[in-house]
Amino acid sequence: MAPPPLSMEPTGWFQVAWSPEISVGAVHKMKYFGREMVAWRSASGRVSVFDAYCEHLGAHLGYGGHVDGENLVCPFHGWEWNAEGRNVCVPYENHPNKGRRIRSYPTVERNAAVWIWYDVERREPYFGVPDIFADFSDGKTADDYYPPFPAATIYRPGLELHPQYVMENGVDFAHFKFVHKTPFMPDFTRHDFSGPVSYVDFTIAFEEGATLESATSGVESINAGLGVSVTRSWGMIDNRTMPAVTPVDETTSDVRFTVWIGRKPGEETAPDITEYGKIMSGFVIEQFEADIHIWSHQRYSDPPALSRKEFAGFRALRQWATQFYPESEPTDTRPGESEELVTVPKSELDRLRAAASLGS
Ligand code: FES
Ligand SMILES: [Fe+2]
Repeated sequence: MAPPPLSMEPTGWFQVAWSPEISVGAVHKMKYFGREMVAWRSASGRVSVFDAYCEHLGAHLGYGGHVDGENLVCPFHGWEWNAEGRNVCVPYENHPNKGRRIRSYPTVERNAAVWIWYDVERREPYFGVPDIFADFSDGKTADDYYPPFPAATIYRPGLELHPQYVMENGVDFAHFKFVHKTPFMPDFTRHDFSGPVSYVDFTIAFEEGATLESATSGVESINAGLGVSVTRSWGMIDNRTMPAVTPVDETTSDVRFTVWIGRKPGEETAPDITEYGKIMSGFVIEQFEADIHIWSHQRYSDPPALSRKEFAGFRALRQWATQFYPESEPTDTRPGESEELVTVPKSELDRLRAAASLGS
């Protein structure tokens, strides 16, 4: 695939693992944003994500490095690095090397997952990873759902797709009928692209014969940057989902998808997901896989051939997405305010330029 004409180094939060995959003491190898990295969990439970190479003489910490208390110890000469990536011990000297630091990425654990903040300019995080329970303010907590990992998740590494494709689903009302076989095209009830965290809600139903007017179900989603989105359903099987796309290199991304299914009566305290939970999450995963099938073979179309009805949504989404790409300032633009700027057709600009040069 030709690399997409969109940077594979957008700013934001990106899932690099599910929490249970990084057990205490483990040093987990991975590659994101073209960089070798390691994730490790200290004795007290804190997860850190580092560039993989020791700042001393460059050993890869994922090959033989180990965790000692709150530090990561290099296998080559035993130098110890704390969670911030600072050297705290050179075993054969009286003092640590205070000047050297391994790049350590801001890391949070939320929604059963590990997230890193990536920014080419190394700015501190200026938005957060949404909480799939607290941020929907409906009083539900993780205890009301079956634990999703690993049975209600899918991991599809190294797909040729860009994180923005997944976000564009949030304005793409027409695909639901064709990809997800919904009986009608959903209606978006909310589009808010005013900040780095956007909100998209729509009415949708899957039962045969349902119509937009008669539908009594829908989905709400919160999208933080291009790497993370969380959704909550209403009026249908109680489910929450979390698609997460993390660039690996210039052409590929790892895709993870996590599904929480609401516990059915009698299974409130089941320690693991039950047969019912697995069947229900399977239906949800099937829908997501139908999307992946399209995305992983898609070529980014710019400018796209949009129908009249699609124009405003895609324009707002793509305008919103630009703020996450390098060389662009974080914006706080409301779609309405930027309309004039975006809609001046090129022919009109050319005419204005020509007029200006005639007058000068
Ligand atoms: S390379 Fe890591 S301690 Fe020497
Ligand atoms: Fe979709």
